[in-house]
Amino acid sequence: MTSAHCVSAAPRLSPRSIPADFLLGVATAAYQIEGATRRDGRADSIWDAFCRVPGAVIGGDSGEHACEHYDRYRDDVQLMSELGVQVYRFSTSWARVQPDGRTANALGLDFYSRLVDELLAANITPWLTLYHWDLPQALQEAGGWPARDTALRFADYAANVQAVLGDRVINWTTLNEPWCSAFLGYLSGEHAPGIQNPQASLDAAHHLLLGHGLATQRLRELGPELSIGITLNMTVADPVDPTDAADVDAARRIDAQHNRLFLDPIFRGEYPADLLADLDARGLNLPVLDGDLATIANPIDALGINYYHGDAISAQQPADAPLTSAAPSQRPTLSPFPAGDGIFTHSRGLPVTAMGWEVQPEGLTRLLKRIDDEYARPTGVTLYVTENGAAYTDTVTSTVAADGTVTASVDDTDRAEFLRLHLDAILDAVDAGVNVKGYFYWSLMDNFEWAWGYDKRFGLVRVDYDTQVRTVKASGRLYQSIIDGRGVPADSAMSQPVSPEHRG
Ligand code: FCB
Repeated sequence: MTSAHCVSAAPRLSPRSIPADFLLGVATAAYQIEGATRRDGRADSIWDAFCRVPGAVIGGDSGEHACEHYDRYRDDVQLMSELGVQVYRFSTSWARVQPDGRTANALGLDFYSRLVDELLAANITPWLTLYHWDLPQALQEAGGWPARDTALRFADYAANVQAVLGDRVINWTTLNEPWCSAFLGYLSGEHAPGIQNPQASLDAAHHLLLGHGLATQRLRELGPELSIGITLNMTVADPVDPTDAADVDAARRIDAQHNRLFLDPIFRGEYPADLLADLDARGLNLPVLDGDLATIANPIDALGINYYHGDAISAQQPADAPLTSAAPSQRPTLSPFPAGDGIFTHSRGLPVTAMGWEVQPEGLTRLLKRIDDEYARPTGVTLYVTENGAAYTDTVTSTVAADGTVTASVDDTDRAEFLRLHLDAILDAVDAGVNVKGYFYWSLMDNFEWAWGYDKRFGLVRVDYDTQVRTVKASGRLYQSIIDGRGVPADSAMSQPVSPEHRG
């Protein structure tokens, strides 16, 4: 390292302050934490059905019990209050609210009403997502997202939830990560409902977007004061060799299928021409009817960005094995990209999490700047990082006190550092003038990680699935101190978590 480099990289000594109007929160999703899958009238969602398919989920796990949040929600709100979180992103289960996908279930709605009251009493702002992947199985049997009617059903469901919670919830997200619902659900087959059909996956993508537009319109009519948005999972697709035209084109195709397929219709009322050409060349299309694109482009207030890592993309096979994000379940899966043939993801040699995902915080800064420049700022939309987090293999240490009391602790310095680095990356974007106003760590607590089952832990809080005991990890204590002090520590040496006794 040159001395000039040393000077420019001189460590910052004091914590970097977080703007006063920037919200710090945590996120979860219904199927991943609630359990109680057969209580109070709830019927099967596609995930209940998928978990019964042999080999679909690692360990044969399911969300049947999960974190028992349905019964423990008061304790979980108390935990959030202890951590000092300002805002809580959760989802409502469509199969609890409308077990048959059509008829409102008062008992199901009442659970969310009680949860919202509990949050408000704890001074935590509720941030509600209507769809985090758990379609009622009855609607899947009627065709699922590839069927246009599901979009209409979704708008009715949104109206049902708004009728009960619209007086207390301001922040509404229609869909979480429609890319996953469409392409992991109907093309790769890694997620429920496990279908592997390229045209069906594109039909699903269009109808998810249409459902988003119809629900946005309906929520707007019912509650003009609501803040409405959608959450997209996005990648930063970098060509491995930026001077190689084939790598550049491969990165363009991934950007089109992962990001612009959703961004362009929502913000501009059109599908990207290059994407349509790529699909057409493969005999595939998006089933657009007159008026659909105008519906999808109904103005939104907030865009949620879920960011875990970017991708180094090439048209060449890497010398080592290409990176894949697919869960190694027993059921064979396909590529989730309908026009992804001949494209490979290379390792950059960065550290990886337990998911095999590269730790790449600078990608988040670039992503925020790009989305703000190209989509959000021109339309007056505010950005939020609605998910970001890391799975690591946690080690639990038990300490026995003189009186025999056993205290468990999890010293997850890798997760704490992941959190610190990504908050820092967001502040870089803020400094560059990006209009990003919040961060939600994924996740409040360990939970059911879809096809990975309970194998992967993302929580700031450990869940012992045998006893349901929750233990705040070192990363949770660090987040508590960040929220309390409204500052991101300068480096990992300074990111010492506050003592468990500390209350923000
Ligand atoms: C996101 C999902 C969330 C969780 C994290 C790790 O894609 O929205 O439910 O599984 O990944």
